Amino acid sequence: MAPLWSKLLLLSFLQCVISDDVSRESEFIWDVNGYVIFCPCMGRFGNQADHYLGGLAFAKSLNRTLILPPWRTYKNVPFDEWFKVEQIRKYHRVILADDFMKYLAPKYWPVGKRIGWCWLPSNTKETCKMKEGNPFGPFWDGLGVDFDEYMIYQISFHDTELWRWGKLYPPADHPVMAFKGAPARFPIQEHHVHLQQYLEWSDAIEGEAQQYVDDTFHGEPYVGIHLRNGGDWVNACAHVEGGTKYMASPQCMGYQNTEPLTKEICYPSEETILRQVKNAVLKTNAKHIFVATDKNPMIKELEQHLKEQKVKVHHLDPWLPLIDLAILGKSDHFIGNCVSSFTAFVKRHRDVHDLPSSFWSRS
Ligand SMILES: *[C@@H]1O[C@H](CO)[C@@H](O)[C@H](O)[C@H]1NC(C)=O
Repeated sequence: MAPLWSKLLLLSFLQCVISDDVSRESEFIWDVNGYVIFCPCMGRFGNQADHYLGGLAFAKSLNRTLILPPWRTYKNVPFDEWFKVEQIRKYHRVILADDFMKYLAPKYWPVGKRIGWCWLPSNTKETCKMKEGNPFGPFWDGLGVDFDEYMIYQISFHDTELWRWGKLYPPADHPVMAFKGAPARFPIQEHHVHLQQYLEWSDAIEGEAQQYVDDTFHGEPYVGIHLRNGGDWVNACAHVEGGTKYMASPQCMGYQNTEPLTKEICYPSEETILRQVKNAVLKTNAKHIFVATDKNPMIKELEQHLKEQKVKVHHLDPWLPLIDLAILGKSDHFIGNCVSSFTAFVKRHRDVHDLPSSFWSRS
């Protein structure tokens, strides 16, 4: 039998846990103006970030609290593992998804009353496939959500349609809108780009990136570059020629662009890359180049081309691509790929902090 003191210890421990929960519960007051949540289920981090900011703007325009969905990798990553909640709260009311599920859902969005929202054409016989496939199923499973009913809608997330959402779906009748995908367009709309300022790295991400910068560059200037050159990108760029808009391209071509895209913008040649990096190195007097890539970091080619300048080329290839993003965000100059949403995240971040950037083939 366990001695009395250990039982007492256990008891007081449990009491602590319980009273902690109770005191946290009072932090969360139900918002009568309703909630929005969505699965950031499209693509990897760059695409998700575009969608996330659009979803944030959507919640604000409906004056509903945004339930901050987890980011999606091979698992759900709570929003606050990567970004600060206080910062995003400066823009709009938000609550972490885990807090919502723990403190508000049991009472206000109980099992049996969970409605999944999907866009489908009006004459379809299909139903809403909220949890079919990956990442949809695992995403909602991670939050412990099953859907009991479905709401099919035909309105878009275009600005001119926004008023219809509030009119058709008042919060009293539809307290929680749980969308299959982000209530947003891709790429991010022009007037939402500034929302990047509300995404501030968590202390963990910031600390890890800063540590690398300090240890590697010793306070010397460095040029950050993003080389998107994996096999999937070869395919993605095969048909860009002639089009005026492709994935994140409005970030360098402009949102009203009529000029045709070129292969060089999407998949720059080695010659273009070496020339632009050299120019940036000369201009910033950089002693280092930091390369983020999904495939080929071109270390030998860069070192060879910049022999005279004696620059060192670094390639971290971190387990978490966000570390690359944070390091690129701090460089003295950044050169990225205009079509890539990974680049777009860095570019927006640098614009917020007044740091210079350019694009391959588009200086
Ligand atoms: C927006 O929602 C908040 C919280 O429910 C409420 O206090 C505020 O009055 C609402 N604003 C408008 C313009 O309805």
